[in-house]
Amino acid sequence: MARRAEARVIREQSGEEVRVELGPRSYPVVVAAGVLAESGPRLAAAGFGGRCALVTSERVGALYREPVLASLRAAGFAPAVIEIPDGEEHKNLAWLAVLYDRLLEAGIERHSALVALGGGVVTDLAGFAAATLLRGLPSVLLPTTLLGQIDAAIGGKTGINHVLGKNLIGAFHQPRLVLADVDTLRTLPRRELLAGVAEVIKTAAIGDAGLFAELEERLERVIGLEREVIVPVVAACVRYKARVVAEDEQEVHGGRAVLNFGHTVGHALEALTGYKELRHGEAVAIGMGAAVRVSVALGRCRAETAGRLVALLKRAGLPTDIPSGLTPAALALAMRSDKKSARGRIRFVCLEEIGRTAFVELSGEEIVSHL
Ligand SMILES: NC(=O)c1ccc[n+]([C@@H]2O[C@H](COP(=O)([O-])OP(=O)(O)OC[C@H]3O[C@@H](n4cnc5c(N)ncnc54)[C@H](O)[C@@H]3O)[C@@H](O)[C@H]2O)c1
Repeated sequence: MARRAEARVIREQSGEEVRVELGPRSYPVVVAAGVLAESGPRLAAAGFGGRCALVTSERVGALYREPVLASLRAAGFAPAVIEIPDGEEHKNLAWLAVLYDRLLEAGIERHSALVALGGGVVTDLAGFAAATLLRGLPSVLLPTTLLGQIDAAIGGKTGINHVLGKNLIGAFHQPRLVLADVDTLRTLPRRELLAGVAEVIKTAAIGDAGLFAELEERLERVIGLEREVIVPVVAACVRYKARVVAEDEQEVHGGRAVLNFGHTVGHALEALTGYKELRHGEAVAIGMGAAVRVSVALGRCRAETAGRLVALLKRAGLPTDIPSGLTPAALALAMRSDKKSARGRIRFVCLEEIGRTAFVELSGEEIVSHL
């Protein structure tokens, strides 16, 4: 009995639960070290049982499939495993079709859980399959990248890419449960981890001044993935995203647009470099550097505030300057072509204070003129 109580205390210290409040579509996000090994009992407690499917990528599957499968089987589940090749280039219609085939062959039914284990590519693709197959299956997301844990797995956006652009085909489909195991972040390539840190810094900059101050104090411990530091940091980011999503679930009121801080220039850079040279987080880091320059030039932000953000990004080893060789004209054109610009006007997210943003309507040329 005493041992049980002790184990429980340890678990509570290294885990947090955040609820995404969306009425009947509400769900918990468990952020904890080692939670993958509890997948079975946690799915059972969420009301699932019997046949289920585990969708993962080859790389993530090799690392983390076994503890998930062992836990599912021990809890009485009969999981079918479906692996897709690694990488963004497989988040497309062809692989979605393969996924549909395999899920149907595996005997998945309306109430079977579709469990997605991997980064944003896997959770987006599997989430979209769950949104559409048999008119909607319940999904459970096990995100294994920092970006996945604080962003892609939260909020119900699912989808695939089209040759004409990223994420052009998709649906809102909230998961039933998210289990974010921070221990999985230890095997992430450093560049992927730091790209996720850029999104952590973005979250703090736009909505959580307390978290920003924490990052200034312990950034190296966050990057070092010390459990007692990374768990509350991931949970704080999840809490922020959950709040934004709860206010604007399907991006109709514009509240979710605040998440685009750093994305106007970031997306343009990704498009101009063919989505190959920069990780998304790196592009957003440069985009945030650009956004605070614009904010200061427009008189919306003090230079000192901008300096705090740029200094933190640099300390994380992230880029903040626009790569040389890109012309202002090309950048302005790429911003105008972005799917989020309307009639050439861009709803640009300015930083006013750490934790506070404002929208300003600008053209691509106006933005570039302030960089
Ligand atoms: N749905 C949303 O709201 C949302 C939000 C942001 C991004 N996204 C999408 O997410 C995708 C990017 O996600 P990502 O950055 O997680 O990339 P990703 O899924 O491609 O993963 C990055 C790489 O890390 C590997 N990996 C994943 N977890 C690992 C682990 N624990 N250890 C070792 N290697 C691991 C993957 O195999 C891959 O090679 C994009 O397609 C983007 O559109 C969606």
